[in-house]
Amino acid sequence: MAYLRETATVVAVEPQGEACLLRLASPALAAAVRPFQFLLVRVPGGGFALRRPFSVFDARGEEVEVLIRPVGEGTARLGAVAVGEKLDLLGPLGQTFSPPAEALYVAGGVGVAGLFFAVAEEVRAGRQPELLFGAATEAALYGRGRLETLGVEATYVTEDGSCGERGLATEHLPGAATGQEKLMSAAMAETLPPYARAVVACGPRPMYQALFRSLGEEARLYVVMEERMACGVGACRGCAVPAREPEGGYLAVCQEGPVIEASRLDWLRLAEEV
Ligand SMILES: Cc1cc2nc3c(=O)[nH]c(=O)nc-3n(C[C@H](O)[C@H](O)[C@H](O)COP(=O)(O)OP(=O)(O)OC[C@H]3O[C@@H](n4cnc5c(N)ncnc54)[C@H](O)[C@@H]3O)c2cc1C
Ligand code: FES
Repeated sequence: MAYLRETATVVAVEPQGEACLLRLASPALAAAVRPFQFLLVRVPGGGFALRRPFSVFDARGEEVEVLIRPVGEGTARLGAVAVGEKLDLLGPLGQTFSPPAEALYVAGGVGVAGLFFAVAEEVRAGRQPELLFGAATEAALYGRGRLETLGVEATYVTEDGSCGERGLATEHLPGAATGQEKLMSAAMAETLPPYARAVVACGPRPMYQALFRSLGEEARLYVVMEERMACGVGACRGCAVPAREPEGGYLAVCQEGPVIEASRLDWLRLAEEV
């Protein structure tokens, strides 16, 4: 796999709730990267053997953006960088992906970072993609201002009801069968038609499991798998996830993903991992 190494200058740091959006001058990577691909970023300050993986939030002109949500020491340091600092990047890594026409995008929290570039490219091509964006609170709807500036008609869902609909994104899927309908269908021994639209989701693992359960096995569901990674290029198998085929086998997310069709994954073994 061909990838680049580039030293990027931090051009802007934009706070997004507890996260931040870093705008990086990185001309070679900006020209090469496509939606759904990711970068490995060296943690500044030393002491970290492994780079950290981040989705490319967006790429325009000579700049790429990454959204960083602090969960540990590496992301805390990356979230504290200042304008003018340099970051060492590797990429683009992983495969790009072209969602089926009129796919529904479903983002959960920081998962919006994995979808924004694809959504933005659709808007730039004159289409109006539909995005369902759920988070715990309004403050965790990272990048909401950017979506609004772009003109994306997103449906927002928050667990505390502070913005948009109250609940979980997976409870507000347009056109999905309700639990009541499923019960009635089972009682009458009828099978519900498969969910008509393809769904591309990026968010926490429980969100994928809920989508898989509510859309059914035959739905065209694609999930962005954000496994912990080491090499990022298929050499270490550190990012392997259980696959259905071959039985008992695995697939390397950094090589075949990060977007994986949900029907290829062994959800029973994945549930055991959590
Ligand atoms: C393809 C890909 C794209 C990603 N895109 C983004 C992004 O756009 N923005 C963003 O903020 N994060 C993203 N992540 C997750 C990010 O890489 C991790 O949060 C980061 O590596 C944690 O580093 P750390 O040193 O801060 O935390 P660590 O000290 O390594 O870990 C802190 C805690 O976070 C957990 N953790 C670490 N990595 C992950 C992970 N991949 N998934 C779930 N839990 C994890 C650890 O188990 C631990 O509990 C992405 C991951 C992948 C694989
Ligand atoms: S991170 Fe090494 S094989 Fe995927």
